[in-house]
Amino acid sequence: MAWQGTIRPGADRISVEVLDQRLLPYRETWISLRGLADARAAIADMAARGAGLIGNVAAYGMWLAGLEIISDKPDMETFLSRLRQAAECLKSARPTAGNLAWGVDRLLALAVGQTSPESALAALDEGARELARSEAEACRRIGEHGLKLIAASAKQGTPVNILTHCNAGKLAFVDWGSALAPVYAAHAAGISVHVWVDETRPRNQGARLTAWELAESGVPHTLITDNAGGHLMRRGMVDMVIVGADRVTRRGDVANKIGTYLKALAARDNNVPFYAALPASTFDLALLKGDDIPIEERDGDEVRRVEGQTRDGSLAEVLLCPKRTAARNWAFDVTPAELVTGLICEHGICRANEADIAALLKMA
Ligand code: MRU
Repeated sequence: MAWQGTIRPGADRISVEVLDQRLLPYRETWISLRGLADARAAIADMAARGAGLIGNVAAYGMWLAGLEIISDKPDMETFLSRLRQAAECLKSARPTAGNLAWGVDRLLALAVGQTSPESALAALDEGARELARSEAEACRRIGEHGLKLIAASAKQGTPVNILTHCNAGKLAFVDWGSALAPVYAAHAAGISVHVWVDETRPRNQGARLTAWELAESGVPHTLITDNAGGHLMRRGMVDMVIVGADRVTRRGDVANKIGTYLKALAARDNNVPFYAALPASTFDLALLKGDDIPIEERDGDEVRRVEGQTRDGSLAEVLLCPKRTAARNWAFDVTPAELVTGLICEHGICRANEADIAALLKMA
């Protein structure tokens, strides 16, 4: 299919549509969000996932909440009080991605600055659209900056081999992505690139989503098991690791999909540069240390079971372990700043430390 984005306003002007990522790569289905509860459920159930997209869906969720509230003809005080409740409801959908609270708070601030429910609703509408536009642009610029790193690694005759974990591509944002934006930029610039795609158990965002979107864009890639990266790095088959981020602290500790930390350790042991790419909205400057980032723990059934397509094209879920086996399922881990070669954001590339991050963000 031609790329149509991950989120779009509904034709009726009172809904928002999101691409249902739970069904990719097997089915391309859009679901309609018609109110606060739908927006929260899309985030919590991971129809819409990836830090950037979560922030954007939540922003639209604020507008949808505003639409619901205004139908009761409230005064401004009541409108804002109910909107604040909606904000808390959205923020509680998933705990780790910093963009969620960022998007919600940004929209709430726009409404608070208004004098009537009608103007507040208009501000929420415009604010959600603007946030989607500006986040897509931020990702495009991440691509431009990251392209320089890839270009510097380009060699005659062999592609630049980039390893990535999970999905921090177009699907995790409104467009472009974070970790994959430099890959798309390099591919478009005619630089030969090849991506090693970690399958990313338990939900397999690498196998299902990253492999799908790279194929859609014609970028050469190979799917590998989550445990293969260290082996490939020892053999000199990885030129750089680029991952996304769900939240990055003031000192540059990076929360990202579970397993990222192990890739960073292997990269350090093998002198492979390890980059995290993120829009400024993913920084949480209120937190200094990665240990303070809340880590989502999800249902153990995601570990015990796996979903896929059978040979006849239907979707099926199977049990991987004995019926009674217990499982724990931490969705994210934290890579300490010391293991991160650099952070690629829309304002440029910096080292992962407090002073360099502050200097880079001042350019905003
Ligand atoms: O649980 P998910 O799929 O919402 O996880 C988010 C991710 O895809 C990754 O951790 C990603 O690398 C960062 S999000 C841009």
